[in-house]
Amino acid sequence: MFEDHLLLATGVGAIAVGLVAAILIVWRDLGPVARLSSIQRVALVVALAGGVIAFGLKLTVIETLSHTGRDHLAPVLVGVDRSDPGPVIEVGRPAWQALPAVAPAPADDPSTPAKVALGRRLFFDPVLSRDGSLSCASCHDLERAGGADGRPTAVGIDGAIGTRNTPAVWNAAFQARLFWDGRARSLEEQALGPIANPIEMGADLDEVIARLGRDPTYVAAFEAAYGPGTAIDADRLARALAAFERTLITPDAPFDRFLAGDTAALTPQQIRGMSLFETVGCIVCHAGPGFSRASLLAPEAGSSGFRLFPSLASPYAARYRLTDDLGAAKTGRAGLWRIPSLRNVELTAPYFHNGSVADLTEAVRIMATVQAGRVVGDGPVATQVEWSPETKRLTRRTPSPLTETEVADIAAFLKSLTSDRLAGHRTAATLAGTD
Ligand code: HEC
Ligand code: HEC
Repeated sequence: MFEDHLLLATGVGAIAVGLVAAILIVWRDLGPVARLSSIQRVALVVALAGGVIAFGLKLTVIETLSHTGRDHLAPVLVGVDRSDPGPVIEVGRPAWQALPAVAPAPADDPSTPAKVALGRRLFFDPVLSRDGSLSCASCHDLERAGGADGRPTAVGIDGAIGTRNTPAVWNAAFQARLFWDGRARSLEEQALGPIANPIEMGADLDEVIARLGRDPTYVAAFEAAYGPGTAIDADRLARALAAFERTLITPDAPFDRFLAGDTAALTPQQIRGMSLFETVGCIVCHAGPGFSRASLLAPEAGSSGFRLFPSLASPYAARYRLTDDLGAAKTGRAGLWRIPSLRNVELTAPYFHNGSVADLTEAVRIMATVQAGRVVGDGPVATQVEWSPETKRLTRRTPSPLTETEVADIAAFLKSLTSDRLAGHRTAATLAGTD
């Protein structure tokens, strides 16, 4: 590089000047005054020159090193986005990733067609509920509602109304934490919960297992899956359901086709929304190909998949009763919620743990405000002063605005996460608002 040569020339020049000065001083000045012989004068020049050369080299090395450092950090302009005044972080940003075509399975229980077939049968069979009225599929509709039920909160046995929204089972296989409050760590751990839950399937697990054991076709199916003579037990029931759920994945969204090279798979609006999803900071929590930090595929595995929600004060908390339920409170983490995946989110309305928000655009507005600290609207932005009685400190914040157009762009991007296979079940409401 040109500047490196310039540095070297300066270093060599400085050494030469130092050497000439040393020779002149010794011969013209010090030599005659101290009455030194020629040999003594040469020795003195060598000693002085050594010091000069070492000093020159030191300077050159220091300059070159600090210069390379600066060169490394020099910012590079990669684009100008006049619409978004938020922080643009170009360094260290992870690459976007498509969903893998196979879900990770436990090493000691590899998937086989017999296990998947048994799990599918169990998933659709109301025999798992107390009175034979409900199957897993009653609440997790695999065709419509993206594997959820389209209701604000679940309706279980005897019409019991639950307190939480039914999440999608599609791509649940990629989650490292299951349930809204993340209390289960695997599909196996999750699977037996709804069967015994008094307001879901309301059954007695031992009674369900005895019932399956009286059906010769189930006995045969469990033997086909887990070997001749194996007993039907809760562990194998859970494993079979999980094996089937691991096939419920959707790596076929426009977003995945876009990453595979089909740049026409996303509309220009969706690409703007994809960029905003990063710059606004949604990606901090909804990270990786599963769009959740609580995913087995999330970057920085081991970082928390839970966040305080809502994490900033806003009128939304009261309007949508977002703080009535305190999430992971039972495990001592009141107010914390598992970060959900956003795959097929277009189909899984209504939103949030209590299903209180019917519209995806409104969900984006709320998230931008309470999780990303932005102010949504086209008007002027007021500075907010907040007092914390806990820390006895004032915080002064001027949130940067996010326009309604930008909110619509983000919502449009979220719709690119809808599986092609399930997209036929879009409703008129979800189709509106995209250009
Ligand atoms: C009565 C409706 C209902 C039935 C029946 C039901 N579920 Fe659920 N399911 C829910 C609700 C509600 C949640 C969320 C509960 C919570 O977070 O506290 C849930 C959560 C889940 C999750 C976690 C998804 C995630 O991303 O966290 C999975 C997986 C799941 N159910 C699978 C099943 C299976 C398998 C069955 C059958 C054995 C079943 N469900 C039966 C309503 C139901
Ligand atoms: C600080 C972490 C964090 C950030 C940043 C964040 N989210 Fe979320 N998001 C969450 C959590 C936690 C939930 C679950 C809330 C609940 O349990 O009700 C959630 C829920 C959602 C939901 C509802 C999902 C469903 O199935 O009901 C949507 C949609 C969503 N986020 C979109 C976004 C968008 C868009 C952004 C950026 C504007 C964003 N999020 C930023 C943590 C975050």
